Amino acid sequence: MFKSKICLCLTGSTLSENLNILNKYRNWIDIAELRVDYLTEDERLYIRRFPEMAKVPCILTIRRKIDGGAYVDGEATRTLLFARGLAFADQDVRKNFAYVDFEEDFHVPSLQDAALAFETGIIRSVHSMDGPIKNIPQKIESLRTTGYEIPKVAFMPRTLSDVTNLFRQSKDLRDKDSILVAMGGLGLPSRILASRLHSFLTYTSPVELSDNLSHLGQIDPITLSEIYNFRSITQETSIFGITGYPLHHTQSPAIHNEGYKNYGLDSVYIPVRAENVDEAIEFADQVGIKGMSVTIPHKQSVLSYMKEISSETGDIGACNTIVKNGSDWYGYNTDAFGLMEALKKFLGIKNLKHMKVSIIGAGGASCAAAYVVKELGGKACIFNRTISKAKDLAEKYNFKYAVLSAESKSLLDEYSDLFIQTTSIGMGSTIEEISKDPIDFYDFKGSEAVYDVIYTPAKTALLKRAEEAGCKISNGLTMLQYQAEQQFYLFTGVKYE
Ligand code: ATR
Repeated sequence: MFKSKICLCLTGSTLSENLNILNKYRNWIDIAELRVDYLTEDERLYIRRFPEMAKVPCILTIRRKIDGGAYVDGEATRTLLFARGLAFADQDVRKNFAYVDFEEDFHVPSLQDAALAFETGIIRSVHSMDGPIKNIPQKIESLRTTGYEIPKVAFMPRTLSDVTNLFRQSKDLRDKDSILVAMGGLGLPSRILASRLHSFLTYTSPVELSDNLSHLGQIDPITLSEIYNFRSITQETSIFGITGYPLHHTQSPAIHNEGYKNYGLDSVYIPVRAENVDEAIEFADQVGIKGMSVTIPHKQSVLSYMKEISSETGDIGACNTIVKNGSDWYGYNTDAFGLMEALKKFLGIKNLKHMKVSIIGAGGASCAAAYVVKELGGKACIFNRTISKAKDLAEKYNFKYAVLSAESKSLLDEYSDLFIQTTSIGMGSTIEEISKDPIDFYDFKGSEAVYDVIYTPAKTALLKRAEEAGCKISNGLTMLQYQAEQQFYLFTGVKYE
């Protein structure tokens, strides 16, 4: 059974820094790549010693800036550095570099001969940093000039379709070793599913050095192994995922993949970043994905790709779960179930009868919130920046509506048993993003219960303010967990308990 190797890219500025990091990750990797381009000038004098120190097969790489690396000096010096790395070959091949990475246009026959004579494999690489390589088999063929090299094609996709193309074309490349990488956030599936691409290896970055290569979309080897169960992915593994854009803050892979581990299922759940939903469906069909979670901003646009949707999904008008059966997709909504369970637990009650609820926002998540409040017998007022959206949603359930601004303060006061916050305000990682509070004009009395569907950060500015006023608060992690459990059941037929 073909399995890709895990390569750790070492971009520290000294050999000892790299060695310390390597020691931390040793158990999760097969190969280390010494990125000489990140070493200081002085350290570059001693690269020949690294394989013996590392005690794992090592790749010698000196990546130029134009190829996505950090090397800025001339080619003559680079050639000397390669020579220094390959010189004085040892009888014990473990003390030599196992591989050297020569770019497509780097042709120094003496170095190539030296590498071959001392059993150092040659990775012949091409990096397209500003767009896809359309004909990948042709490119691979042109890189394999002697028959000894392992060709490597790495490119920065512009859209998810470029990544889909890589998976499609990789099917013709299985007879010989090659390395295939789609970089950046869009390319992440190619790194996790490297074994499906039949790629000789997948590149990873230690968290300690993630600033150096994170723009290339590399993840660390522990996440790759422990969250994505990389070592057990084969051609038979069932693939699930989550699609959305930009898809920065998602806990769903951790939840689903842990479930597969606990129940012994040969499955993996991956992030599929897609700006347009048609690209996500195209990718899923090509790669054989069996089910996907759907998040912002595709929950409504995905509906038109469904053969059938559940009645709940139709009522809510948004779909967060799609399941493939044969060649067709079926749509479900587990957000409503997730929020319903979360609210029941949060409030310790079975329904919302006699409760007046403020729903903040009128987007996809709010559609599920309005549905849930109605189902649980509560009364609600929907507050939104764009009043027409609040009106449309409110009229569906016979609820009140108002604009999300200080002029609606008295209505918020009236509907203040429970607040359900569904907008993206307060979500994010920057100080500016997380300091925002969608109802900063409202003064909490302390008797309100406040549920914010956001879970990054764990406590939004709104929740902090409510808590300080003595309110009962909860973030959206409980909703996420419950909706994921129902989704897990739809995907696998196994109850997540
Ligand atoms: P989701 O599927 O997560 O609900 P969405 O459908 O894009 O995402 O809805 C986002 C919600 O957040 C909407 O209610 C949106 O208000 P508008 O309908 O007026 O766009 C709200 N929202 C997002 N950013 C906002 C902002 N800066 N100020 C006020 N409301 C905002």
